[in-house]
Amino acid sequence: MKLLYLVPLSIVFTALIFFTGCGDNTAQTIAPVETEQLSEQGQEEVPPTERPASKPERPASKPDHLASRADSSKDLESMVILVNKHNSLPSDYVPEDLVEVDISFPFEGASDRKLMREDAAVHLEELFKQAAREGLKLYGTSGYRSYQTQEVIFARNVKKYGSKSAANRVSAYAGQSEHQTGLAMDVTSPKVDFRLVQCFGDLPEGKWLVENAADYGFIIRYPRDKENITGYTYEPWHLRYVGVRAAGEIAQKGKTLEQYHESDVWG
Ligand code: DAL
Ligand code: ZN
Repeated sequence: MKLLYLVPLSIVFTALIFFTGCGDNTAQTIAPVETEQLSEQGQEEVPPTERPASKPERPASKPDHLASRADSSKDLESMVILVNKHNSLPSDYVPEDLVEVDISFPFEGASDRKLMREDAAVHLEELFKQAAREGLKLYGTSGYRSYQTQEVIFARNVKKYGSKSAANRVSAYAGQSEHQTGLAMDVTSPKVDFRLVQCFGDLPEGKWLVENAADYGFIIRYPRDKENITGYTYEPWHLRYVGVRAAGEIAQKGKTLEQYHESDVWG
C-alpha cells in the first residue's frame, strides 16, 4: 500500500524540481540570487544615458594578442579589459559601438539592457543560435548598463543586504561593473522563471554554457569558489566577452580574468 502513495509523491516532487529548475532555493538565497534582476526593476527611474556629443580621441591600440596583458587590462577599447574592485571605468565612459543584440529577452521594447558592443553582440547571437539548435532556451536579461544605472542598482542592493560590504559581494559599485563595458550579458532560462539564481548553473543550460561559451569568446566571469580572486560570489549567469583566444585559454586552464592578466603570454 505504501508504495502506491510513494510513487505519485516522488513524481510530484520531481516535477516540482523540473519546473522550478531548482531544488532547495532557500540555501541559495544566502548568495546573490536575483540581485541584478530585482534591482533592475529600478532602471526605469533612471534618465536615459547621455552619450558624449563628440568622440574622444582614441590612441591607436594593438590587437589584444599583441599588446602586453598589463596594457590591455586598462585599455578601454580592449576586449580583455579588466574591470573589478581595483580597476574602475571613468564615470562618463560609454562604449561607442553598442548595438541591440538579436536574442530573446523576457521583456518587450527598447532598453539599454539589450545592448552590447558589436563584436560581443555578434558572438552572443551565434552562441544562442547554437544553444537553440541543441534544444536549449536561453534568454538575455541584462547587457549594457550606464554608470548612473549601476549607482541606482548598488544603492538598492545596499538596502536589500543591509550594508555596502554585504551588497558589494554580489553587486558592483558604479564604475566597477563589467556591464558598463558593454561586454557582459546576464543570461537566464524560463526554467528558473527568468531569475538570476545560482541553480541556473545546475541546469542543462548552465552546464552547456560552461562547456561551450569559450568557443564563442565568452567566459563565466564569476565562477564558484573564486570570490577571493574576482571579488564576487558565484554568478553562473554572467557571461563576459573576451574574444575567442582569451576565452579558450581562460576556460582551458580554469583561470579567472584576473589570473589571465597576471600570467605572461606564455603562462
Ligand atoms: N553582479 C556584478 C558583479 C555586477 O554588479 O556587475
Ligand atoms: Zn551581470
